[in-house]
Amino acid sequence: MSKKILVANWKEYGTKAQLDAWINQIALQKQAISDNKVILCPPLTLLSIASDLVVNGGLPISIGAQNVSRFEEGKYTGEVSAEMIAEFASYVIVGHSERRQDLGETDATVAKKVTFLNAAKLTSIVCVSEVSQVIALRNLVGTYEDIIAYEPLFAIGTGNPDTPENASEMAKKIKNIFPNTQVIYGGSVDDSNLKGFLQQEHISGVLVGNRSLDGSFFLEIVRQACFLASSKVKNAR
Ligand code: PGA
Repeated sequence: MSKKILVANWKEYGTKAQLDAWINQIALQKQAISDNKVILCPPLTLLSIASDLVVNGGLPISIGAQNVSRFEEGKYTGEVSAEMIAEFASYVIVGHSERRQDLGETDATVAKKVTFLNAAKLTSIVCVSEVSQVIALRNLVGTYEDIIAYEPLFAIGTGNPDTPENASEMAKKIKNIFPNTQVIYGGSVDDSNLKGFLQQEHISGVLVGNRSLDGSFFLEIVRQACFLASSKVKNAR
């Protein structure tokens, strides 16, 4: 059975002390983590430390960045390139709606970033809220086989998630456009609604914002995902 993708998106939150505490907490459940595909996306300042902590602790956690420069390299003060991120991480979130709405990220910049990430052998997690953004990606990059996070605007940070059925319908539409991509759902996911999403045929995992910062909350999500996977296996027997 394929592992569920569980992305922890810390956004503009998190200090070194919080990261230490999070890792210590998560490390208590190594088995549960390795039964899933856990991707920790802290702020850029913590990427290198997070990478060291998971390697030194032998933790089966992948590290992701939340953004990348839209330029390959050059005189762009404050920007960080795909190649630089690749030293510490293997995933990068692109086109989050918070960046599309507040930081000028467009379909064209998303496509550019995806191209640089491919070249640096990083896996992109492209966030979309509408099918039109997926079509734009196809028109701009052609094929795409990484991860797409469907995140409806009304659901992000509101405590008001989409219904699992609706999210699955969207995931199906996305897979019609990019059959080899894995679609995950994001927007007010917590341990009480996780099950509904992970049970959907077309949904391969979740992207968690608010509930991912606290290690104990996130661990509950990881445990729930394991529990669901093991009960599926039992039912299949
Ligand atoms: P949320 O954030 O889980 O706090 O709604 C989701 C996201 O990062 O997109």
